[in-house]
This record gives sequence, structure tokens and C-alpha cells, in this order.
Amino acid sequence: MDGVSDIVVVKLGGSVITNKDTPCSLRADVVDSLSNVLGRSPLKKVVVHGGGSFGHYYAKKAGISTSCGPVEDIDDVFLTREAMFELNKHLLRSLHAHGLHPYVISPFVESRDEYLVDFFLNLLGSGFTPVLFGDVIPCKGGFKVISGDDISYLVCSILKPSRMIFCIDVDGVYPSSKMDGAIISEFDCKMLRNFVGSNKKFDVTGGIRRKLEIACKIASLGTDVLFVNGFKPDVVLKALNGLYDVGTCIRGKR
Ligand code: IPE
Repeated sequence: MDGVSDIVVVKLGGSVITNKDTPCSLRADVVDSLSNVLGRSPLKKVVVHGGGSFGHYYAKKAGISTSCGPVEDIDDVFLTREAMFELNKHLLRSLHAHGLHPYVISPFVESRDEYLVDFFLNLLGSGFTPVLFGDVIPCKGGFKVISGDDISYLVCSILKPSRMIFCIDVDGVYPSSKMDGAIISEFDCKMLRNFVGSNKKFDVTGGIRRKLEIACKIASLGTDVLFVNGFKPDVVLKALNGLYDVGTCIRGKR
């Protein structure tokens, strides 16, 4: 593997690291076990996390969504971001306690020029773990939420990593929204149209359907994408170690 392709991007879903049913409620034990697994992996990693009951709670309350639009009170932008920073602070402390050196990158601009490639590679080469998270950013006509999944795509389009791992709150992608039966072990992006979004209480960024769309975009970059259960540290470790039969895999287009 060359210097760029041995990077793994890991998205920690908000429904894993927080309890989405209660505003601003951290799952400290889960954060700790994920940090432990990330700390044990020798790979170069970029960590992206979602908003869960922190960012989503405030964004939903204020009507801030992934579509660009005016906000009535800019304080809502502040409050949503403050909640994200709060969640991020917990994560950073935990990653650091497990031997990593997190380097937060925020706000994340929607650009992918050469400068950013070097920016990431210099950080990774110095032993840092870049950490990014879903955010609220200005746009023409107001503000919008940029999800951790969108940010993961941007990071992948910059770094073209060999693998991207989505840590979600179930074992993988289920064939139907009922989420019963066995998970799909290898997802073919042609199956996308059969999927409907889930309706999580605080989610302003669009459920599994949107996640799969982004995952397919990431796979089209040549990156293998894995969906694994973030509540199962042994499974996350296996995924980090390159095992693909521990969740749902989308093979990168080569
Ligand atoms: C949401 O990020 C960020 C904000 C609401 C500000 P994500 O959409 O990636 O969060 P999760 O993983 O679904 O909770």
C-alpha cells in the first residue's frame, strides 16, 4: 500500500455515540470502547463523528436542515455548533486517553484542493488523527447542516483511502426498513432505489437511504465502504483490520 491508500476513514454515527432519544446525552462507555479500539489500531485514521442528540436536537428545533435556508435567529447556529463542540470535546478527551493525538478540523470548507491533501497528509505523517464532525455552515441565502457523512465523502475524495468504515447502531444494512432477518453482506449500489429513509427522532440529515447514497459515491472513488455495528468493539476492530464479513460491504469501483 502506498502512503495515501493505507488511510482508513471512520465515521462514528451519532446514534452510536449518543442516546438519540434524550437531548445532549452522551454514551460515554461506547465512546470509550470505540476510542480504545481506534487507539489499538496501527493504521492512519481520520475520524468523523455525527451529531446525535447534540447537534440534531438543536438543528431540528431551529429548523436548520441540509437545505440552505435563512435562519430566524443566528443564535440557533451558535447553539447547534456549541452542542457539536461539546460532543467533540468528549470524543477528543477519550481518543487522547487511548493514546491518539486528535487534531480537530472545523469548520470544514466544501473544497478539495491540493492544499487539503497536504494538510491531511502532513497531519497524519506527524502522528495526528484528524477529527472532523457534522457542522452548520454558511451558504448562499443562509445556513445549512453539513452531515458527518457528507464530510466523510469530502475527506475520501481528498485522500482516496482504501477503506471507509461507518459505525452505525445496527449490524449492517437490512434488505427492508423493517430491519429484520439477515443483513446484506455485500450491497450493490444498483439496489439503492429500493431503500427508504428511516425516521429517527432528532435526525435532520436523512437516515439510511441518504447514508447509502453517500456510501455509493465514496465507493465510486475506489474506496471500499463498510457498515458495522459501533456497539460491538470487536467487530469494529475486525473491520479496521481489514475483515469485510463483519457487516455490510460496498466494494470500491476499481
Ligand atoms: C449532524 O451530523 C450534524 C449536525 C446536526 C450539526 P450527522 O448527520 O453526521 O449526525 P448523525 O451521525 O446522523 O447523528
